[in-house]
Amino acid sequence: MPGILIGLTLATLTPCESPTWSKDVAPIVHKHCLGCHRAGSVGPFELLWYKDVSRRAKFLGELVATNKMPPWKPEAGHGAFQAEMRLTEKEKATVAAWVAGGAPEGDAKDLPPPPTFSKGWKLGPPDKVITMLKPFDVPAEGRDVYQCFVIPLDLAKDEAVIAVDFEPGNAKVVHHAIMFLDHNQNGRRRMDPKTQSYQSFGGPGIVPTGGLGAWAPGARPAILPKGTGRYMKKDSDLVLQIHYHPSGKPETDQSRLALYYAKTPPQQYVGAVALRSRALVIPAGESQHTVEVKSIPLPVDVTAIGIFPHMHLIGKEIKVDAYLPNGPVIPLIWIRDWDFNWQGTYSYKEPIDLPAGTVLKMRAIYNNSDSNPKNPSQPPKVVTWGEETNDEMCLCGVQVITKSKEDMKKIIRMPNGMIGMILGGGGVPETPEEIADAKKNRSKIILQTLMSEYDQNEDGLLSMKELQEFPKENRDRVMLFLRVMGKLKD
Ligand code: HEC
Repeated sequence: MPGILIGLTLATLTPCESPTWSKDVAPIVHKHCLGCHRAGSVGPFELLWYKDVSRRAKFLGELVATNKMPPWKPEAGHGAFQAEMRLTEKEKATVAAWVAGGAPEGDAKDLPPPPTFSKGWKLGPPDKVITMLKPFDVPAEGRDVYQCFVIPLDLAKDEAVIAVDFEPGNAKVVHHAIMFLDHNQNGRRRMDPKTQSYQSFGGPGIVPTGGLGAWAPGARPAILPKGTGRYMKKDSDLVLQIHYHPSGKPETDQSRLALYYAKTPPQQYVGAVALRSRALVIPAGESQHTVEVKSIPLPVDVTAIGIFPHMHLIGKEIKVDAYLPNGPVIPLIWIRDWDFNWQGTYSYKEPIDLPAGTVLKMRAIYNNSDSNPKNPSQPPKVVTWGEETNDEMCLCGVQVITKSKEDMKKIIRMPNGMIGMILGGGGVPETPEEIADAKKNRSKIILQTLMSEYDQNEDGLLSMKELQEFPKENRDRVMLFLRVMGKLKD
């Protein structure tokens, strides 16, 4: 038995001897790289034929060895996700041995046919296709463009979305997309009617009412567990935020997305527990500024199904763990080389049960020094919370389902519950009475949220010093609110 085991381990770890492109490496590159490195896709060059690959073999080998390509950010062992883009150790060893052996072509007879990429929606005919109302012009050069498109959904009734597929209209320039829901027409008020869109970098620039997740190249649409859905209210608009990276030529894009609905009303709606710190003051020059945030103990049992971490350009590392009430710690995600350009929603391969009483903890690290080539401010400046390129965010939505609709309401009423709704779905359907009741409790929830973020000495009051870190533009309003509630110190 041990012999068999050792044999197996060796077989899975040792590369083939003297690997060649045709026989050993092409299948690996076809499988892991062509998704993006083919004509018309987002990768800067094709990696299809020996001539494409051989002249950059060494560089390619380095990127594969250091896990820079494919651009899959989550660290192995900290959450197992659907559609992971990661080479096995054996595949990595084969690439390394091939490069070390001078990157030989081998016998062309061994070359497998290149894979074909099926066009069309991956999950079959959708219930609804939403297309950007007008093509959008992306300039040939210059800074990246972050554009929010406001698209009325024209729904006949409320729906529960079980899957979303996104199809870039022009894969050469679409770098990532985030889908927000807005049933307050905030997007319409903000947009330029000519393009039916507006610019906004880090967030959607408005307060949305829900969300349908994020897409990055290589993502595959995930279907929610049976009996669950993301709530989409009837009069919602979609606010589609797309990050465009100029390609060197003028381009146009008209992206689309497909929605799949639950056939029967789901028993459970998806929400999210949001971890957030707006109390961000990242000193100029600091290369390892660490921010730690924890949730209140979860009021009910939840099952985590996905996770959406979010920082901006100087974000360096983000880690989220669940501390269970009886001791164990479950790692939910760890990204050690955060890259704003490669953000997305990560869906767990197996849902993760988190009992009531679990505390979620997030640690985010920022590099605001001039040693960080991604730092938009040179020389570095103090960075605080905001939506612009040179502001930062510290945010993560742990997407969850609950045992009942009542339980989900308790999640929505947690501190940062509104943000949770945006990062998880659209909340749950509520009767007018329930909405009125929630409004009555609003002050209490706002107060809880403020305390969880800013009450550093945990005395139940906020002092001027603690509020120094509150975003400037709303500080006066918050102080007035705290004074009325009797929670402002001195
Ligand atoms: C999900 C899409 C995607 C996949 C999969 C992917 N790449 Fe890339 N690759 C890109 C993009 C986009 C760039 C341009 C740089 C950037 O935006 O990060 C890039 C850049 C590169 C570069 C140039 C890096 C530089 O700094 O100039 C190399 C080499 C490369 N990829 C090799 C690979 C290899 C080898 C694989 C497979 C093992 C692979 N890529 C898989 C999207 C991808």
